[in-house]
Amino acid sequence: MSNPLTLSVIKADVGGFVGHSHMHPDLLEEAQEQLERARLRGPLFDFHVTSCGDDIGLIMTHDQGVDSEAIHQLAWDVFMNCTDVAKGLKLYGAGQDLLSSAFSGNVRGMGPGVAEMTFVERTGEPVIVFFADKTSAGAWNLPLFRMFADPFNTAGLVISPAMHAGFRFEVLDVKQGRTILLETPEEMYDLLVFIGASGRYIVSHVYSKTGEIGAASSTQRLSLLAGHYVGKDDPVCIVRCQGEFPAVGEVLEPFSMPHIVQGWMRGSHYGPLMPCRFADANPSRFDGPPRVISLGFQLANGRLIGPKDMFDDPSFDESRRLCNVIADHLRRHGPFEPHRLPMEEMEYTTLPDVMKKLAGRWSAPHEKLDQPAKIPTSA
Ligand code: 13P
Ligand code: 13P
Ligand code: MG
Ligand code: MG
Repeated sequence: MSNPLTLSVIKADVGGFVGHSHMHPDLLEEAQEQLERARLRGPLFDFHVTSCGDDIGLIMTHDQGVDSEAIHQLAWDVFMNCTDVAKGLKLYGAGQDLLSSAFSGNVRGMGPGVAEMTFVERTGEPVIVFFADKTSAGAWNLPLFRMFADPFNTAGLVISPAMHAGFRFEVLDVKQGRTILLETPEEMYDLLVFIGASGRYIVSHVYSKTGEIGAASSTQRLSLLAGHYVGKDDPVCIVRCQGEFPAVGEVLEPFSMPHIVQGWMRGSHYGPLMPCRFADANPSRFDGPPRVISLGFQLANGRLIGPKDMFDDPSFDESRRLCNVIADHLRRHGPFEPHRLPMEEMEYTTLPDVMKKLAGRWSAPHEKLDQPAKIPTSA
């Protein structure tokens, strides 16, 4: 295929089964039927419906380009209809991520998470789509850095002439709504200044030095959009593999180290990101720990050949075990930091409402009071 193809991945939480842990099959069925109609009459070439935890994900190929109103409208309609199904079953938090009742041309900023890219399909076009639950946009910063900039992870950066020049990272500052482009390896340390703070600076795209798109991630932060806590952003990410991009195994390798991400219970805790099989993407222990699944596809003229469950591999068993060990240790901290998020991140949870109730109970420090403290003296 020599015409540009667009791969759009759009997800939302439209109701959990049970609580925030899983997806009810009726929602998947509803989405499947609606996208099947869009495939028969256009504009979709192909699609795959998936879920990770309580989030439903739509993976779609078409020729409408990124930010297409037709595609975003389609995704929005699917989520609205799934919300109706969720309401009928009284699923938990039905319509949770849909921040508005009216569509206005693009789902960005309306709650759903979006990752999209347009490219000309290569002779062999392996792509991996990652979905995470119980975490936040920014969770891909560390793995994307490892994949595209760390020679200890990606042998191709050293060995392959097609990758040796490095990559270009686009980083979004979610607080100020501005972006910066940084080159690796030249500006690797500058890049880390920002993306190490993954709550604020989020890698949105990675390009080869020739300008080919290699990765796209969702950058929507629900709390910043809504101004209050409505659930976590549960991000998605698309990565192209092989050739001038990291090999499939280099793209998966960062997840062998379960890095610590924001999310878990009430979106208010740090926890390790567990790479798991599709069947295990049901975060139930303390609503977690956070999960990531990876769907591998070969593209064939816009058709999605797959998915292959890429973490269905016993070589990730040790990472999962380590995740459980870390999870145990963090859980023992209970409501204490650093298990609980720091105060500035808790601003977007329900904690400030509790603090407001106690606002009137604070007084000046003791030594400034008129009455000195009665210090018990020994007889
Ligand atoms: P193949 O020789 O099987 O294509 O593998 C090459 C490669 O890049 C493995 O990571
Ligand atoms: P979700 O963001 O996956 O809906 O989870 C919210 C939550 O509060 C989990 O405890
Ligand atoms: Mg939920
Ligand atoms: Mg979720």
